[in-house]
Amino acid sequence: MSSSSCFNGGAGWPEPVVRVQAVSDTCGETIPERYVKPPSERPTSSSSQPGPGGNNNDIPVVDMSMPDAAETARAMDAACREWGFFQVVNHGVRPELLRRARASWRGFFRQPASVRERYANSPATYEGYGSRLGTAKGGHLDWGDYYFLHLLPPALKSHHKWPSLPSTLREATEEYGEEVVKLCRRVTRMLSEGLGLDGGRLQAAFGGEGGEGACMRVNFYPRCPQPELTLGVAAHSDPGGLTMLLVDDHVRGLQVRNKDGHWITVDPVPDAFIVNVGDQIQVLSNAAYKSVEHRVTVSAAEERLSLAFFYNPRSDLPVAPMPELGPPLYPEMTFDEYRAHIRRRGLSGKAQLQALQTAARSARAAS
Ligand code: OGA
Ligand code: NI
Repeated sequence: MSSSSCFNGGAGWPEPVVRVQAVSDTCGETIPERYVKPPSERPTSSSSQPGPGGNNNDIPVVDMSMPDAAETARAMDAACREWGFFQVVNHGVRPELLRRARASWRGFFRQPASVRERYANSPATYEGYGSRLGTAKGGHLDWGDYYFLHLLPPALKSHHKWPSLPSTLREATEEYGEEVVKLCRRVTRMLSEGLGLDGGRLQAAFGGEGGEGACMRVNFYPRCPQPELTLGVAAHSDPGGLTMLLVDDHVRGLQVRNKDGHWITVDPVPDAFIVNVGDQIQVLSNAAYKSVEHRVTVSAAEERLSLAFFYNPRSDLPVAPMPELGPPLYPEMTFDEYRAHIRRRGLSGKAQLQALQTAARSARAAS
């Protein structure tokens, strides 16, 4: 690796950060050892072959333009119980805006390295251009670079922390953020109704309109000469509330773990959002809705871009299961507290939620 592809070694990371884009450009036919996953985690392991299931082998699609709102809520409710994932179509965000947001971010990852590195991030806040999550030295790395930024609360949003190039990016991101927040509020209302609660309950638990958190992680997965050995993002559940994922319009890569433990490759509907339940909604719904593991495979032929929009409870609010939903399976915790673990250790399957549940169980046993 040439030294020009290493940057940002001193900004709080345990070792120099190498951009996957630079690795992809220079590594030839063999990826570095750091990106090679243990055999059981590789996309080619046996759990990756879907079992029998016929057409039931993809996540549900929900049409948000159905005139019957109760029916829409029921469809989302069923999807959140069974899959933790669904796609929404006719969601009201203009396709032109989706294209503009995608094109702007693709444009950022095509800027020269010297431009991208102006925004290099650190593990203190993760805001900016990054290539890893977690600060453990020498661990496995994923085959992807990203850009992380905040949209809500307003006090955390700062255009200066967003790329100034390409020149369309800030405006497109601002407008995209506003529209996707509106969509999240609509979906959150339907999920509340699906849970049998008043429509505003989840929203209130997130801090009320204007009190929520929202941030975005734009993922860029360069071409990979050995896609069978690595992952763009290893298996994880999303730590936040609700995720709205806008994927590449032509390259697949997202896989979701279904009820039988098999990895299912999502077939994205053009211009749909892929919606998934995060850990905070699993907690608030007392596990009625599942925050399901997913991962990303990469391609030898094509790079891939995705925009993951995270809609979260205000970070200093205690989050606990809604009392109507039975004896609590999880202890109360703020999203700040929850996220602190992940920022140190990185994402790792569903380890974090399981640890919480175990803590709640032993606390009950001891009392
Ligand atoms: C994520 C994520 C999926 C994708 O950013 O949390 O799961 O397809 N991304 O990029
Ligand atoms: Ni995710």
